[in-house]
Amino acid sequence: MPKEEVVKHGDVSRRVGVEVIRARGVDVDKLIKTLIANAAAEFASTYYYYTILRMHLAGYEDYKEICEDARLEDRAHWELIVPRIYELGGELPNDLKAFHDLAGCPAAKLPDPPSVVNILTLLMESERCAIRSWSASAT
Ligand SMILES: [Fe+2]
Repeated sequence: MPKEEVVKHGDVSRRVGVEVIRARGVDVDKLIKTLIANAAAEFASTYYYYTILRMHLAGYEDYKEICEDARLEDRAHWELIVPRIYELGGELPNDLKAFHDLAGCPAAKLPDPPSVVNILTLLMESERCAIRSWSASAT
């Protein structure tokens, strides 16, 4: 026998998905905040800057491919996270600078000098930070 409906048939003022996960003990506001911070990390801290890093790996095609894989992976993560934020009733800040500053990891800015070793080290440390920030937000 199904549990009593929390959102009544025809009620469009509330979201069934939100009610269901809230009933399972999820702090939806915290989840939205975490997803926004992670969206900022995927888009602003990595995807944008990885695009720059990739350009500086021209001529080192194997390494450029590694950077491109990471760049496209983070773009895919960005594309997956954003709809979830809105489905939960949240929204992205309407200010790119404010959004950027919500990221849990520093921007992967082009190192000085932009050597292959420095770029790949930065790329690896950025990915490590992303894993650590996800891990921290899950606790
Ligand atoms: Fe990612």
